[in-house]
Amino acid sequence: MVRFAIVGTGRISDWVLKGAVQDPRFRAVAVCSRSIDSAKAFIEKHPEAFTADAKAFDSLYEMLTCPEIDAVYVGTPNSTHRDITVKSLCSGKHVLCEKPFACSTAEVQDMIDAARANGKVLMEAMISTLNPNFRLAREKMAEIGTVRHYSSTFCQYSSKYEALKQGIVSNSFNPAMGGGALGDIGVYTTFPAVALFGAPLDVKAHLVTLPTEFGPTDVQGTAELLYPGMTVNLAYSKVVDSKLPTEICGEGGNISMDAVHICRKVEYEPHRTPTSGRGPATSTETIAEGLGHDEYFYEFEEFISVIESGRLESDINSLQVSLTNMEVMEKIRKFA
Ligand SMILES: NC(=O)c1ccc[n+]([C@@H]2O[C@H](COP(=O)([O-])OP(=O)(O)OC[C@H]3O[C@@H](n4cnc5c(N)ncnc54)[C@H](OP(=O)(O)O)[C@@H]3O)[C@@H](O)[C@H]2O)c1
Repeated sequence: MVRFAIVGTGRISDWVLKGAVQDPRFRAVAVCSRSIDSAKAFIEKHPEAFTADAKAFDSLYEMLTCPEIDAVYVGTPNSTHRDITVKSLCSGKHVLCEKPFACSTAEVQDMIDAARANGKVLMEAMISTLNPNFRLAREKMAEIGTVRHYSSTFCQYSSKYEALKQGIVSNSFNPAMGGGALGDIGVYTTFPAVALFGAPLDVKAHLVTLPTEFGPTDVQGTAELLYPGMTVNLAYSKVVDSKLPTEICGEGGNISMDAVHICRKVEYEPHRTPTSGRGPATSTETIAEGLGHDEYFYEFEEFISVIESGRLESDINSLQVSLTNMEVMEKIRKFA
């Protein structure tokens, strides 16, 4: 059993609890909000997740002195991740921190240093790579020969874009809070690419930015990552939708995922029928369809398993992947 404190009472904290409670080893014992009323209301809103004696805090410092807390889930804006994470680790708590892990490589390094110095587990809450369907796609890569190309798209029209057009800048668009499309949504394309292929030799990108009172915010982008003998194309947007799948293209066939952030369907195709229609027809094999649990279950399952095993980090969402991913994101951002 791992006793969690939840920091931040926004919608992501609501969402992750639905998955967390599906792991019987999960207990929510505390919540910290900037407002004590919000903290109390959050506990009342989630009776399925919180223990009867769960505590509400409006001070992170006070919460972190509480010995009944083993781990902290950080569900606050990106610009706050480093400080909350480092303070929590230095108080002897394990930390599961939302994506993007932080706002820069230097911040991610601070978090990793704090985890190692305190011997506590630290993991980025990146659901894509822990999704069992993504993991099956990854295993299937052994059967598609030399991988020559990877293409990943996540374009989702943001409900907060209408407000942005009226001059209301939500945290997810606010550059001063670490917002912008790359960190909010592009990270779902970069992180799996880095998890699959490691650090690229070169990065090129194009970003679309819009002005805000806090400075320009990136709302859409494309990036090319170069690897030895293979290319990677990434596209992400908070201002248009796209149904384009994510594909791993090998010399022996293709694996496609319907969506990279929450992969529900994985297909394998040995070789496509040529578009001329004159080649032999090929059959598509469905490798995986549907998910057994809520999509947020898997990050809690992995994080709790790492803690219970006595290891200090996940083999899948490793700290090296988080660091390399932030290096890639920094290189992309330079093209803004
Ligand atoms: N994994 C996913 O699917 C997913 C989805 C959406 C977002 N996210 C990530 O989750 C994080 C939060 O996103 P969000 O859209 O929920 O953000 P948000 O609504 O702007 O903030 C979340 C909560 O953080 C607290 N907060 C707000 N401003 C703060 C500040 N200046 N300092 C400290 N706490 C503050 C607030 O809770 P209190 O009022 O209780 O303090 C707020 O409700 C981000 O890192 C985002 O990238 C992940």
